[in-house]
Amino acid sequence: MADASVPSFKAADLVIELSSTPKNKQDEVTFGNNFTDHMLTVDWSASEGWQAPLIKPFGNLSLHPACSSLHYGIQLFEGLKAFRGDDNQLRLFRPMLNMSRMSNTAKRACLPAFDQSEFLECIRRLVEIDQDWVPHSDSGSLYIRPTFLGTEQSLGIKKPAHALLYVILCRVGSYFNSGAESLSLWADPKYTRAWKGGTGNYKMGGNYGCSLFAQYEAEDHGCQQVLWLYGEDHQITEAGTMNIFLHWINEDGEEELATPPLDGIILPGVTRQSILELTRKWGEFKVTERYLTMSQLCSALKQLRVKGVFGSGTACLICPIGHIVYQGENLHVPCQDKKSQLASRIAKELTDIKYGRTASDWTFLV
Ligand code: COI
Repeated sequence: MADASVPSFKAADLVIELSSTPKNKQDEVTFGNNFTDHMLTVDWSASEGWQAPLIKPFGNLSLHPACSSLHYGIQLFEGLKAFRGDDNQLRLFRPMLNMSRMSNTAKRACLPAFDQSEFLECIRRLVEIDQDWVPHSDSGSLYIRPTFLGTEQSLGIKKPAHALLYVILCRVGSYFNSGAESLSLWADPKYTRAWKGGTGNYKMGGNYGCSLFAQYEAEDHGCQQVLWLYGEDHQITEAGTMNIFLHWINEDGEEELATPPLDGIILPGVTRQSILELTRKWGEFKVTERYLTMSQLCSALKQLRVKGVFGSGTACLICPIGHIVYQGENLHVPCQDKKSQLASRIAKELTDIKYGRTASDWTFLV
């Protein structure tokens, strides 16, 4: 439902310029390189407001060298996917959650508001135009990357009076190409992904760019990703670019699926929320948003109370964690055999929804 109180562009005003040179559609090999034929752009200025949205051939942007997103990181992004079901219908998964998170991030970044439903309808039209790019396989999908930039042409640090909202699409396969069944994490409190009062709960590029240095140090320690810790008590917060879940027998002897609470340093992931809602609906074990520390995890590992640890995110869906390197020790995290593993069960239920095998109001038809 459009919200008339927010000054916004309208999907009904879309201008469409189709590409006359469609590209060959390569298979999805590496995540994030295989872009489709079209993109959506919408310009905004404080003096003229939103311009008509435009779908045009995919191509470079032209930006002023003083552009505020380049100098001060006044920018944000989102990530969601389109899936081709067995019935050939294209579906998005809970896209309004991305629209709402994007609006929250835009506010935090001092970028202008837009109508979420109008924007989603523009995205739907873009995906429809590039629909042949959505893979005919249930290991592939079309990754949708909405992006919002401050395009103020000034080195002054101020709220941008010019901004550019755009969306690009790319055909993707699996996010981690390692072929391994589980990930290894390096946990060291010397790096912090996010802090109270910061921007860790918003989807801003800076959160990811700043994580790279630690990511390469993780690789030097033989690990694939960083387990981000926080505070003196080494709270477990996120894994790489993913939310993290611990499935264990807790200190009170109860079976529990736990993930850190949304206290300002955790990204409110759409997959995270879906896992919480799904497993709460099952009602088979306790599902909690709570603080978890490395010392709690280490004790539970020693006492064989851990059933599994996994990361979740749009790009990877669910990724089991097999090892954690922490304070000089290589901790082995048990993964139950593949079929009974909770991570596999959740991944299957979510995949069945995304590909239309299970009817659900979590999907949005393209
Ligand atoms: C996601 O999985 O949701 C992500 O944001 C990963 C992306 C940075 C590639």
